[in-house]
Amino acid sequence: MGAHIIDGKKLAESVRAELKLRVEKLIQSGIQPGLAVIIVGDSAASGIYVRNKVKACSEIGIYSEVHSFPGNTQQYEVLDCIQSLNENPHIHGILVQLPLPPHFKNNRVITSIAVEKDVDGFHLYNVGALVTGNTIFSPCTPYGVMVMLERNHIPIEGQHAVVVGRSNIVGKPMALMLLERGATVTICTSKTFDLRQFTRNADILVVATGRPRMITAEMVKPGAVVIDVGINRLPDGKLCGDVDYESVKDIAGYITPVPGGVGPMTITMLLCNTILAAERTQAGAKIDK
Ligand code: GUN
Repeated sequence: MGAHIIDGKKLAESVRAELKLRVEKLIQSGIQPGLAVIIVGDSAASGIYVRNKVKACSEIGIYSEVHSFPGNTQQYEVLDCIQSLNENPHIHGILVQLPLPPHFKNNRVITSIAVEKDVDGFHLYNVGALVTGNTIFSPCTPYGVMVMLERNHIPIEGQHAVVVGRSNIVGKPMALMLLERGATVTICTSKTFDLRQFTRNADILVVATGRPRMITAEMVKPGAVVIDVGINRLPDGKLCGDVDYESVKDIAGYITPVPGGVGPMTITMLLCNTILAAERTQAGAKIDK
């Protein structure tokens, strides 16, 4: 029997419908959630991501603004912008699109964002909060994966989860979030010797390596839950994931397609975090530091 296909697009639509109601409630109480996006340089991919974020905000009633800087901007100019956004009561979430140009220090920029507005969850304080089980904002991509597992009633506690990939944006926070939910977690990378030995033991396999179709059917345990975070552009212009979908779908119990899997959930969770930030200001909640 083939795998159950987890439709990220459909799930994202239903979560966004729920989020829209939360936005309406906030607006009725006089607060429109606001997101500021900062982009430095003219990367085509980053430009598309930012446009998609802005569009998704407007569809559910979140105010958004984009601050675009040319690639040769000095770091202090971006820090000044963040400082004014930190003080702006109409802005509840601030996101700096990554990657930044090489002359920027990522951590210097990200840690200048107010912790309570860091809707990406990349501030070192928020990373520490996640590590210690006191999450303030969950990073959007792994958060989206957790929602996919939950909404499909996939058990996590006691399961062996294998995460392939160790990025700060996906692999590391993904492993921590699964661990927090009681999974036994193994973290591998694309360079792990005999990777198959690990992936074949996974009840839940999350792959985020950026290597097209590197996970093949013989690397997957029959019935496993396979979550593909990769989005790779092939020479023929088509998109594919890090999992060889065509062969793995006959082995896995659940699988996410690419496109239409994890991708639509990432932006959805950004909307969710922005609304959460606005709800906290409404409740007068202070982040306990
Ligand atoms: N670049 C790639 N993914 C992300 C993300 O989730 N957030 C930000 N800010 N930049 C990214």
